[in-house]
Amino acid sequence: MAKTVLVTGGCGFIGVNFIHLLLAEKPDWQVINLDKLTYAGNLHSLADLSSHPNYTFIKGDICDSPLLDQIFIEQQIDTVVHFAAESHVDRSITGPAEFIQTNVFGTFTLLEAAKKHWSGQGEHCRFLHVSTDEVFGSLGQTGFFTEETAYDPRSPYSASKASSDHLARAYFHTYGLPVLITNCSNNYGPYQFPEKLIPLVLNNGLHGKELPVYGDGGNVRDWLYVQDHCEAIVRVLEQGRIGQSYNIGGHNEKTNLQVVELLCDLLDAQAGPLAANKSRRSLITFVKDRLGHDRRYAIDASKMANELGWLPKVTFAQGIAKTVDWYLANQAWIASVTDGSYQHYYQKMYGDRS
Ligand code: NAD
Ligand code: DAU
Repeated sequence: MAKTVLVTGGCGFIGVNFIHLLLAEKPDWQVINLDKLTYAGNLHSLADLSSHPNYTFIKGDICDSPLLDQIFIEQQIDTVVHFAAESHVDRSITGPAEFIQTNVFGTFTLLEAAKKHWSGQGEHCRFLHVSTDEVFGSLGQTGFFTEETAYDPRSPYSASKASSDHLARAYFHTYGLPVLITNCSNNYGPYQFPEKLIPLVLNNGLHGKELPVYGDGGNVRDWLYVQDHCEAIVRVLEQGRIGQSYNIGGHNEKTNLQVVELLCDLLDAQAGPLAANKSRRSLITFVKDRLGHDRRYAIDASKMANELGWLPKVTFAQGIAKTVDWYLANQAWIASVTDGSYQHYYQKMYGDRS
């Protein structure tokens, strides 16, 4: 069925991959990308689509209610896929205000707009709120997050995402807004901003800079290739039950140190070792831990598999190899996003490490 989809935050990491997927696979869908273009949003990542007949870009803020009214009316939006957020945990620790503004107030503003403009409309409307496994808190050595796991957010980022999930669910129960929620584990792949672990290590490793590992490097994340996440979102949009939430993950747990060592080995193999034949593993530097650092995340994605027939297609070995290839082939993209403001952020977070 043809759809007119408002994608928020479409110039960020997952949004860019999602829009590329939609325009390739859904020829009768219209995509309206609303993005504020914060430091994390990059218009160049979608330059290849700028004249695509099914694609429209609008620069703007999800907190801007009159702009949302205009977009819902003029574009006749029937579907929302809501990615826009402040997404980096470390930034939420040093500056939480933006997280409350965009993640909580922005989501509220968007829900209000959908409620207003979809009132009395048919069953075809859908509001898919993209969220994170971090709302569930931190696991011990065993167990998995299911859709029934109690919320226990522990960083300003995850608390703001948990608030937005609660608002989305409340709009379903109270107003009957056709809401779906997804809670996904750590994504990796092309176009990820190099403040996040994998692209940061690739960028530093290529330039022979130290590779900062927080604490003892034993924190565990459940890594999922971004294209698998995007396909899961389409599946939930088309087949998910209104009012339900779906956990999405890769069953692919790794310690941070395992990930960093693997990236070092792949970079050594593809770009050649450092001077004097030194491996990039020699660049690994254990640094002060993140405040409140969640120890382990792991998703039980059996509802996605049993109810919607979704399973990840890309193994970690395949996905990480593709990711390394992409970053090696797209040095100009990295250079364009690591401008002055990135250097300022890096200096503040990691000091003078070279
Ligand atoms: P990102 O930080 O790369 O991109 C966020 C995008 O939102 C940027 O393009 C930014 O310009 C835009 N944006 C920020 N504030 C805005 C505002 N007020 N109005 C309009 N646009 C705004 O984030 P990402 O990694 O692509 O994550 C996208 C979503 O997926 C987020 O909601 C995040 O919580 C969720 N998520 C991410 C991961 C992950 O591993 N990256 C995993 C699970 C869930
Ligand atoms: O779990 C899903 C979440 O994954 C998303 O909701 C977030 O938006 C996304 O940023 C990501 O959060 P993390 O905090 O897990 O990702 P990050 O890449 O920042 O860190 C991954 C792990 O690596 C984490 O345990 C912290 C550690 N780390 C990170 C950086 C940036 C380091 O050891 N060194 C670093 O320099």
